[in-house]
Amino acid sequence: MAEPLRLVRPDLDDAPLPGMIGSSPGMRDVYRLVRRVAPLDDPVAIVGETGTGKELVAQALHALSPRRGRPLVALNAVAVPESVFESELFGHERGAFSDAKREKAGLVEIAHRGTLYLDELGALSEACQAKLLRVIEEGMARRVGGVTLRPAAPRWVVSCQARDPMSRIGRGIREDLWQRVSGAIITLPPLRQRAGDIPLLVAHFLTLRGYPADWFEGAGVEFFGAAPWRGNVRELKQVVGRLVLSHDGKRVSADAVRRELEGETRSGRAIPIAEPPTPAVDELVAICEANGWQAPRIAAALGVGRTTLFKRLKAWGVSLRSLREFTIVHRSSLNSRELR
Ligand SMILES: Nc1ncnc2c1ncn2[C@@H]1O[C@H](COP(=O)(O)OP(=O)(O)OP(=O)(O)O)[C@@H](O)[C@H]1O
Ligand SMILES: [Mg+2]
Repeated sequence: MAEPLRLVRPDLDDAPLPGMIGSSPGMRDVYRLVRRVAPLDDPVAIVGETGTGKELVAQALHALSPRRGRPLVALNAVAVPESVFESELFGHERGAFSDAKREKAGLVEIAHRGTLYLDELGALSEACQAKLLRVIEEGMARRVGGVTLRPAAPRWVVSCQARDPMSRIGRGIREDLWQRVSGAIITLPPLRQRAGDIPLLVAHFLTLRGYPADWFEGAGVEFFGAAPWRGNVRELKQVVGRLVLSHDGKRVSADAVRRELEGETRSGRAIPIAEPPTPAVDELVAICEANGWQAPRIAAALGVGRTTLFKRLKAWGVSLRSLREFTIVHRSSLNSRELR
């Protein structure tokens, strides 16, 4: 049975959301805003760097809304090639294209009266964004190759990275679409701006793995506060996991934590690429992240085969492993489309 919708009580208003840890002022603002907008129908844009918890916020928005008995559907705009994305999102009629052996309902229909979470909206082409805007405005959609308009009125939740640190406008999103989806903007602070949450998060991730919350020796946790955490909470979670695994059931000393973190920090500076990279490395990393660092999925997202992917990586002087292990700070002005 779904639990009854909780009335907003000012004293509970900024308590952590389900599954979310952290009580820094920035996070309390997030919890408060989520509770305020969750019961409404307005679209919500969640803005934040990778790994800051955008997906958790999207889940909370749905769970705390009257739509929680209906589907929450999530689609990542980076994970699938554009043509597939369109037929996933809008559905298709039988015979709409050569692979369309049977008709398929679009996610916009499935999420009708539920919530549709579009992750990385800015990765969509202009044309697809225009089509999406029309659906959002009309609350109806046509499948690819179809004529019938079908009800498609989910609550729209989108995520994006900020265009630049000072702006709250989503990167890569058309102005008109942005106006439409930014009914409320929830900005997730990067972990480096809320170092006070780190000990809580470390304890949480240890507990999740079945370890005592104080498994790292006292001073160890202090070292966490100084690391740059470009991958934010996800990176912290991975580092905690790596440390406990490499210690084989033994308590982790402060020194071991320091060494692990020095490796992380150093890798943020020493970039294993001799030449300036051809592709936009940050885009490439984002694509890899979104595809769980799995070569077949990354290749598909780039619209190439696996062999081509590895050839290109080699030509660029990187490997999936080096990309993953080293935080790339080198930015190229080239667009991700040139990867294709
Ligand atoms: N405040 C938090 N408390 C506990 N776990 C968190 C928190 N924020 C993030 N996480 C964990 O960190 C990981 C990344 O979170 P999430 O997938 O929500 O980030 P994201 O912003 O959607 O990242 P991306 O932009 O890369 O998709 C998940 O394992 C999530 O459970
Ligand atoms: Mg996400």
